[in-house]
Amino acid sequence: MKQVYLTGITTTGTPHLGNYAGAIRPAVEASQRTDTDNFYFLADLHALIKSQDASAVERSRREIAAAWLALGLNTNNAVFYCQSDIPEIPALTWLLTCHTAKGLMNRAHAYKASVQENEEAGSADSDKGITMGLFSYPVLMSADILMFKAHKVPVGKDQIQHIEMARDIAQRFNHHYGEFFVLPEAVVDESTSVLAGLDGRKMSKSYNNTIPLFEPEKRFRKLIMKIKTNSQEPGEPKEAEGNTLFEIYRAFATPEQTDQIRQAYQDGIAWGEMKQTLFEHLNSMLREPRERYNELMAEPDVVGKVLEEGAERARELSAPFMKDLYHAVGITKLGSKS
Ligand code: TRP
Repeated sequence: MKQVYLTGITTTGTPHLGNYAGAIRPAVEASQRTDTDNFYFLADLHALIKSQDASAVERSRREIAAAWLALGLNTNNAVFYCQSDIPEIPALTWLLTCHTAKGLMNRAHAYKASVQENEEAGSADSDKGITMGLFSYPVLMSADILMFKAHKVPVGKDQIQHIEMARDIAQRFNHHYGEFFVLPEAVVDESTSVLAGLDGRKMSKSYNNTIPLFEPEKRFRKLIMKIKTNSQEPGEPKEAEGNTLFEIYRAFATPEQTDQIRQAYQDGIAWGEMKQTLFEHLNSMLREPRERYNELMAEPDVVGKVLEEGAERARELSAPFMKDLYHAVGITKLGSKS
């Protein structure tokens, strides 16, 4: 039996270089192979947990969908869909919610971090500003995964706990009703999952230090020029490992290209020159996808059609499975014997 790979992308923000290296590129590569079944989706219901700005959510959904397609996702070999197009996902979320220990959710990192922030701010209510959406976020995520019987879930390190929770919840349900769910495993790619951003910290929407993938060339160059460096002079040998410019370059280069640049660091390349080298390298990689991206952004119908087809394929699996699950918990059409 083929292994099922599944991962979701929360639709907040504009797709950036870190998304590409960490999530999009491995998924695009996997979508070229035929030895796995792949599911990739826009986690737009998850987006609502983080953002209540409707137009920002809408824009991000379009941008992220277009980015995946522009960067070469092979939708013949990957089911690419919007979470919100699968009504069985919220339905399953509820069944799972009824089998999820509240104590398990109390231990979720994202929730705990918010509680801690409240406590540190001296708030009388440690749950201040925390919605049920945030609290039960891992249950929705479990439904995403369990619905399509995923074996492997490629994610960043911060998501490992959620996959473990999905296993836990699946086990409880299976124990009670029978072996409906596959127990998923997280797949974490250590080498590519963390890319540094403009200020040297992890590239992340939350730090506001991202380099968007599809800025117009001039703006893209400007951003690369803004990447933080130290005060070392041209000609001074420089440490490549851990340097933001080098690490970004390496994430998108062959080992041979990387060795050359490492040598250039030893030979004391000037920061300005390294920035220009990085810009040219990234720009030549992104030139074609940028064109395709702009075309797709101008034709939302094309993207919409692809997602619609993806949702249809997904629902061929989710609709009958949900029926079985409802049946298992005792909810069937009254009067029917099946
Ligand atoms: N929570 C994930 C993130 O923010 C996105 C996500 C939602 C996801 N559902 C998923 C990832 C299911 C993997 C599987 O990165």
